[in-house]
Amino acid sequence: MSGDRPSSAARSPAGPTPAPGGAIILDGKAVAAKVRQSVAMRALEFASRFGRPPGLAVVQVGEDAASSVYVRSKRKSCAEAGIESFAQDLPATTSEAQLLALVHALNLDERVDGILVQLPLPKGMDANRVMDAVDPAKDVDGFHPLNTGLLAQKRPLLRPCTPLGVIRLAEEYGIALRGLRATVVGASNIVGRPMALELLLAGATVTVCHTGTRDLRAEVERAELVVAAVGKAGFIPGEWVRPGAAVFDVGINRIASGKLVGDVEYEPAARRAGWITPVPGGLGPMTIAMLLANAVTAAFMRAGAKPSDTAGAGAGR
Ligand code: GUN
Repeated sequence: MSGDRPSSAARSPAGPTPAPGGAIILDGKAVAAKVRQSVAMRALEFASRFGRPPGLAVVQVGEDAASSVYVRSKRKSCAEAGIESFAQDLPATTSEAQLLALVHALNLDERVDGILVQLPLPKGMDANRVMDAVDPAKDVDGFHPLNTGLLAQKRPLLRPCTPLGVIRLAEEYGIALRGLRATVVGASNIVGRPMALELLLAGATVTVCHTGTRDLRAEVERAELVVAAVGKAGFIPGEWVRPGAAVFDVGINRIASGKLVGDVEYEPAARRAGWITPVPGGLGPMTIAMLLANAVTAAFMRAGAKPSDTAGAGAGR
């Protein structure tokens, strides 16, 4: 590849804000607002065609502080987009059998098009068993093995929200992914693994780094696109970022001062990168927007409308 920046990248017509060193800040908040607007229109269309709004059940077990913030935000965003939110708050003492019974009831509830069980679950619960119990047609997180398998086989249906948010943001800013050398740092089921599958689907050449990776620095240094999904403040030094690279920081970490920071050392990275997501205001809002998009997509699919009828279901438009 020639040049410092990923090839055939077009600048966003929206007029991006330059970072201190000239990198373009990928404004997740603004793009998420745009996605949410289109979701609201699709939700309205669904309601007028089928006589009820799309419905999303957001289940929280226990009172993990960070989860409570995310869940509140997801429920509020639902209401704003014209999606009916079914709140299910269970105490930390809930047994796995009780949670599974709730999931089964939601699977059968006709008003519920999407089911999200907020992770992490309290100790002692097997998240895999819970994810497996969600009806794949209502799996707005894209965590069910059927949806993971479909993504792996290049026929995605319901796709994990954060990786989808990365793809949507790249698309919005004209970052061409085909042929790009991409490094994903972190190999979780929620972000790292589906992120690698999404980038592969988009035609990138993908490396996934994890705790067994021998030379993380070398893998980051040669990447034209980096996705950091580790959950450790400043885990990736800015000086590792290749000049002109696109940096997507999924981490949201609260440091001692109370400030929220990402997994990448922001200022030095922004001086080198071609594009970078801020924290907060990057992938956080995008994840929620893609969740809402998935909920409306699930609603249309369950009602018998083809995904193509839902105006670009995959990318959440
Ligand atoms: N916990 C952190 N991120 C997520 C997510 O995307 N979905 C769910 N269900 N739980 C999470």
